[in-house]
Amino acid sequence: MNTNMSTSTTNIMDMFEKGKVLKICAPMVRYSKLAFRSLVRKYDCDICFTPMVVADDFMRSVKARDSEFTTSQGDRPLIMQFAASDAQTLADAACVVAPFTDGVDLNCGCPQRWAMAQGYGACLINKPELVRDMVRLVRNQVDNPNYSVSIKIRIHKDLRRTVDLCQKAEAAGVSWVTVHGRTAEERHQPVHYDAIKTIKDSVSIPVIANGDIKYLRDVESTYQLTGVDGVMAARGLLANPAMFAGYEDTPLECVWDWVDIALSHGTPFTCFHHHLIYMMERVSSQQERKVFNALSSTSAVIDYLHHTYVITTAADSCTVLISEQSSSKGDLFHTMTLQWTAVALFLYVEIFVILILSLPFISPQRWQKIFKFRIWNAIAPYWNKGFLTMIVILIVLFLDAVREVRKYSGAEPQKEAKLHPNMFDHLHMKLFRAQRNLYISGFSLFLWLVMRRILTLINQLATSIGTGTALQTQAESANKAAKKYMEDNEHLKQALEVEKVERKNAVGKEVLQKEVQKLKQELENTEHALKKSRAEVEAMRRQAQGLTQEYDRLLNEHQQLQNHLEGSGNKKDQ
Ligand SMILES: Cc1cc2nc3c(=O)[nH]c(=O)nc-3n(C[C@H](O)[C@H](O)[C@H](O)COP(=O)(O)O)c2cc1C
Repeated sequence: MNTNMSTSTTNIMDMFEKGKVLKICAPMVRYSKLAFRSLVRKYDCDICFTPMVVADDFMRSVKARDSEFTTSQGDRPLIMQFAASDAQTLADAACVVAPFTDGVDLNCGCPQRWAMAQGYGACLINKPELVRDMVRLVRNQVDNPNYSVSIKIRIHKDLRRTVDLCQKAEAAGVSWVTVHGRTAEERHQPVHYDAIKTIKDSVSIPVIANGDIKYLRDVESTYQLTGVDGVMAARGLLANPAMFAGYEDTPLECVWDWVDIALSHGTPFTCFHHHLIYMMERVSSQQERKVFNALSSTSAVIDYLHHTYVITTAADSCTVLISEQSSSKGDLFHTMTLQWTAVALFLYVEIFVILILSLPFISPQRWQKIFKFRIWNAIAPYWNKGFLTMIVILIVLFLDAVREVRKYSGAEPQKEAKLHPNMFDHLHMKLFRAQRNLYISGFSLFLWLVMRRILTLINQLATSIGTGTALQTQAESANKAAKKYMEDNEHLKQALEVEKVERKNAVGKEVLQKEVQKLKQELENTEHALKKSRAEVEAMRRQAQGLTQEYDRLLNEHQQLQNHLEGSGNKKDQ
């Protein structure tokens, strides 16, 4: 017996007294073991049953005890179910497990032939006295008065016999009765709720209804129909261990919870796998079930789960398990895990951004203006880190995809596929997915680099265009300036010329002035000289006048003399 747990007992009867409808996980051979019990307890299950254990075997062999009964600290409230055909063995077995459980239950409902043949199970409903004795002995032998002793029965065709059985058991001190509302011969026929109600009405101990509880709403409807104190589910919980928590179908988190719990309990592969087969029964297609059922190792199962199921949000915002092949949409999105859906979305975003960046009517300068928006400035400090992180993520995903492709196209899996024909489809599907993931991660990586390059180029182009324009403007203004300088030069030249001329003129003027001065001087001198000359001339004129007068006088004298002479000669000639 593996019992790593506390020995304090829960009083099951107190739980009934709280007045609510208790939700109980049924005893299930091979299934309601510790790992599964831990799982359903996580999802609002109030009480759990162990699988039926044959009391005889349990008492006879340590090995049987170790393999049939394992419990742990959190595994309470727990009812141990025994198959027994004699009171003493049952009472002994009850005493062994009593410290580790909260009650013992006698199986009076198992319809299997082997069980009936050995006097176990459903044949006990026809032996009410034996049942009464068994209950009584257990009651007497187990010290703990709070320890519950219950029976789980099927109904008779003649319901009076069932009522009689229950009343006898009640009289013997049975704590409560679970009624599977079918006869021992019935398998999938509808549950007789009216029979359960009749039994409930005919005893004063708590009655649990069992049969076809598949959803949480069935708990309420069964209560309404029968007035029972609790319900017990078997197949409903196998199909959806989170049923009592209100989930319509197995939520994905419950599947992973099972994987975690089962692996941590060292659950054998068959049990681990079978539970998953049950959990997926309602949500997967026949083809898918075929593939899944053929998986033969824990790692293959986990791998399959990783690649086949995605989380989607249902209206009530619970995560629900959705099978990609049974999904009515069946599109790419639904065929991917969340991780690869994210990568595919990233790829689409990249394509979209690159297309936008390549739009011919948005010029690099405009892009640069857009890049200068405040939002980009806020992102800019993280851009390089973000870029590198993304590169690393994409490379890791790419390498992972490469690994997967190699894994599913290698010789090993092909051999496996030959051994299990169903594996072929599965491997084919896996290979396809791995290749698809390889493409999307590869393209994402490639486009991520391209996008970075395009952004750099756009910036460079915008900068060089900007520089070109600036240079052109600079050149133009330089030209203008040069022209202006040339004009200025011209003007300066002219001004210089003028200045030169002016300077020349100034020199000339000076010379001239000097000359004028000189001339003036000369003129003055000349004037003086002229005045002098005039005076001299005057003097000379006067002199000449005097001379002339003198001359005239002399001439007159001469004339007179001549005349005189001529007169004197003529007188002589004569
Ligand atoms: C796989 C499996 C194992 C079962 N093992 C037991 C068992 O060990 N003891 C028992 O009393 N009933 C056992 N049952 C019967 C169930 O406890 C339950 O009475 C029956 O399945 C009807 O309930 P359901 O409609 O919720 O499945 C088992 C049923 C299933 C499906």
